[in-house]
Amino acid sequence: MKVRIHKNIHSHEGLLVAPIFVEQATKLPNLFPEEIKNFLGKIIANKEFKAKNGEQISTYLNQKNLPEKLLAIGFGRVKNYNVRTAKELGGKIGKYAKFAKAKEVTLLMTHEMESMAEELVEGLLMSQYETDKLKSKRKDVYVLENLNIVVNKPSKTLESKIDRAQTMNSAITLVKDLVNAPSNVVDSEYMVAEARRIARKNDYKIVILGEPQLKKMGWGGLLAVNQGSAKEPKCIALQYDGAKNRKEPPVVIVGKGVIFDSGGYNLKPSGYLENMHQDMAGGATVLGIFELLKKLGIKKNVVGIIPLAENLIGGKSYRPSDVIKTFSGLTVEITNTDAEGRLIMADAITYGAQFKPKYIITLATLTGSAMSALGDRFAALVGNDVSLKNKIQSAGREVDELGWPMPLHRDYIKKMESRVADLRNIDTGSERFAGCSKAAAFLSKFMEKNKWCHMDIAGTAFVEDAKEYQTKGATAHGLQMLIRFLEKY
Ligand code: BES
Ligand code: ZN
Ligand code: ZN
Repeated sequence: MKVRIHKNIHSHEGLLVAPIFVEQATKLPNLFPEEIKNFLGKIIANKEFKAKNGEQISTYLNQKNLPEKLLAIGFGRVKNYNVRTAKELGGKIGKYAKFAKAKEVTLLMTHEMESMAEELVEGLLMSQYETDKLKSKRKDVYVLENLNIVVNKPSKTLESKIDRAQTMNSAITLVKDLVNAPSNVVDSEYMVAEARRIARKNDYKIVILGEPQLKKMGWGGLLAVNQGSAKEPKCIALQYDGAKNRKEPPVVIVGKGVIFDSGGYNLKPSGYLENMHQDMAGGATVLGIFELLKKLGIKKNVVGIIPLAENLIGGKSYRPSDVIKTFSGLTVEITNTDAEGRLIMADAITYGAQFKPKYIITLATLTGSAMSALGDRFAALVGNDVSLKNKIQSAGREVDELGWPMPLHRDYIKKMESRVADLRNIDTGSERFAGCSKAAAFLSKFMEKNKWCHMDIAGTAFVEDAKEYQTKGATAHGLQMLIRFLEKY
C-alpha cells in the first residue's frame, strides 16, 4: 500500500473518510469540502449523527471532483482521543474500506487528529492484514492500494509519524505471517532462514547453533523436547550493537520457538491442539524486534535468542519420568511433557546470561494458565525486578499492548523442586493452580543474579476475538511494547 500526504483531495476513486470529533460537529472543519459539509450539516442538525466514538454514516457522493463514496465516522470527544481509541478508529476505518472494497482511501485529517496520526494510521494498516495468503486462487482478492491523507498543513513531523506507522506495520505483518503459518511451512529451518535474512539486511551478528553444537554444549532441555521430531532443533542468536558504547551490557530477549506443541506423551486433546503452530510466537516476535532495531535507530545493545524445537510423539520422544540435564547443569525430572516451553527457555536463558546482560526478558506462549487468568487482552508479567516490570507495563500502555503483573513467590519456586532431581517441570498434583507463576518460578531457577521480566503471551499472541485493528489469529502482541521499552528505559 502507498501512503501519501496531500493538501487537497485529488483522487476521485474509492472512499472519502471524514472523521469528526463531537466538538467539531457544530462547526465542521474547513478541511471538509462544501458538499460534505452540506450533507453532514443536515444530518447532524437532524440528530442522525452525533460523532460519538465509532458512529458511522455512509453514502454515495455522485460528485465529479470527489471519491465515489463517503464514510463519516465519529471520533468521540477530543479528550478521549488516545492511543487506544486512535488505533481502534484506524482499524474501524480500515475494516470499512475492506467491506466497501475500496482500493483507495482519502482520509481527511484535521489538526486535532495529528497528535495520534501514527496510531491512527497504524490501526488502519494493521486491519488490512490478509489471512488467506495460502489460498491457491487469489485473483480477485481485495487490497487497499492507496491511502491519501489530506491535511491543511503537511509537515515533516506528520510525515515521520506516517513513516513510523508503516515501518511498524511491516514488522507486525512479518510476525503475524510467521505465527499464522502452519508448522509444515514455518519450521525451524524457515525461522533460521528469516533470521539470516534479517541479519544480512541489517548487518547484525548472527550465530546459529545446530544439533551437533547443542549436543556438545549440553542443551539437554532443548534436545529432550525435540527428540520426537524428524527435524533438527536449532538456536538462533542475533546481536545488535546500537549503543554508543559497544561494551554497554545488552538487553537479552529470549523468545520461545516451539514450532508445534502436541503436548508430547501428555498429549493435548482435540480443541487444544489445532492452534499450537502459534507456539513460536515469542520467537517470531524477537525476529520482528530485530527487523525494527536498526530501522528505528534504537540506541541500545540487544541480543535476541530463539530456541527452536518441535514437541511431538514418536519412538524417540522424551517421556514423563525422564530426568534430563539442562545446559545450566541443573537436572530436571519431566513430570509433564507438555510443559516443554520452560525446558527450551531454560537452556536459552543460560546461554543468554553469558552475554552479561543488563536485563533478561523472556517472551513465551508459556501457559494456558496465563490465558485463563488474564484472557486475550493482557500478557502476564512476572519477574524478579519490580522497576523493570513497571517499565515494561507502562511501555505497553503507551502502545495499547497491555501487561498485568503475576506474582513470583518463594513457595512457588520451592514447589518446582523434585524428589529425584534438582527440579521438576510441573508441580504434579496441583498443576492447575497458579500455573503461570509456577512456570515463571521454574525459569527463575536459571536466572542467577540477572534482572528479569517474563511475558507470558499465551492468551494474547493468537486470538479468536480480535480487537478492532487486529485480525483473527496472530496479533504480534509484545512487539510494540518491547520496542517502546527499548526506546525509553
Ligand atoms: N504452549 C502451551 C501453552 C499455551 C496454551 C499456549 C494455550 C497458547 C495457548 C504450553 O507449552 C503448555 O502446554 N502449557 C501447559 C502447562 C501444564 C502442563 C502445566 C498448560 O498451560 O496447560
Ligand atoms: Zn506444552
Ligand atoms: Zn508450548
